[in-house]
Amino acid sequence: MSEESNPNQQVEAARLAFAREFERFANLETTLSLQQAEAEQRAIAELRTRHAGKKSTIAACKKLIGRVAPEDRAGFGQLVQRTEAEITQALDDAETKLKSIIEAARITRESIDVTIPGRRPRAGHLHPITLMRQRIEDIFVSLGYIVEDDREIETDFYNFDALNIPEGHPARDPQDTFYTTEGFALRSQTSTVQIHAMQRRGAPVRMIAPGRVFRRDTPDPTHNPMFYQVEGLCVDRGITMAHLKGTLAEFAHRLFGPETKTRFRPSYFPFTEPSAEVDYSCFNCGGKGCRICKQSGWIELGGSGMVHPNVLRAANVDPEEFTGFAFGLGIDRTCARIYQLDDIRLLFENDIRFLEQFR
Ligand code: DAH
Repeated sequence: MSEESNPNQQVEAARLAFAREFERFANLETTLSLQQAEAEQRAIAELRTRHAGKKSTIAACKKLIGRVAPEDRAGFGQLVQRTEAEITQALDDAETKLKSIIEAARITRESIDVTIPGRRPRAGHLHPITLMRQRIEDIFVSLGYIVEDDREIETDFYNFDALNIPEGHPARDPQDTFYTTEGFALRSQTSTVQIHAMQRRGAPVRMIAPGRVFRRDTPDPTHNPMFYQVEGLCVDRGITMAHLKGTLAEFAHRLFGPETKTRFRPSYFPFTEPSAEVDYSCFNCGGKGCRICKQSGWIELGGSGMVHPNVLRAANVDPEEFTGFAFGLGIDRTCARIYQLDDIRLLFENDIRFLEQFR
């Protein structure tokens, strides 16, 4: 600003410069988008700094008020004030308008259309092994059995000695497991719960114990180092092999259908005497032979037998007074057969594409 130019002209110059730049804000479109309106708001703030701020022309004009001739001072002062008020008022008006545009745009954006169909939450579902476990539990509970849950880390006593498998017994080898701290190991069979249950409850007792067991196996389509078994134990006065056969036959009927047959093959387990492997007629072909039963007509259910007197003794149950039967079934194995899985490892890989088929 040159000192020589007439102070009135300077005020006029300030007014015009502002008017030129402000023109496009004079009639703000109410249809501005939220983003556009916010950009205009920033532009207005910037305009205010330049045309009404400390370094603006009109601010410089204010400083001239004291320097004009005394007779012109009042008139000039009023002109400066009026011009400044005009500029500020125009800026304020534009700002108010933008604020209301922005508010309206925000309300529109944040409003909820209650008529839009909801998004369906992704509901989880039970794992096939859990489903199978629950079906097995339901059957035995209806036969008067209680469901026991017990520890997965065991001492040698529960996993072996109490089950009539003393140190050096060859039956320890196929059940080699994972040892933790000295004297402790992950249980290799749910048979351990037979001992816990009898110690806790005494006799008579009727229980099943579904749970995880661990063995040092290399994974392949039919093996996993971790799998599920369900143990069964029935101890009372006068329990015979007939009760065992009747119970497992009933179980097979309920799980696979009333036409299912069971058969017992002599076998050996250290904790039962006599012992038997239990098979059931194939649920798919009814015994004629198919791919699922490998053409034999029979599928293995598990091991069983009459509880060995040494096992009863280890749990402080008198074998002169009580007898009992026990059995152990593989849950994963049964699951794999029913769903015709070629590879048992699928049950542990947690691939959602596989698991979702069991909704
Ligand atoms: N514990 C045996 C295993 O892991 C299964 C078993 C067989 C359990 C016979 C029993 C039984 O209770 O009587 O191979």
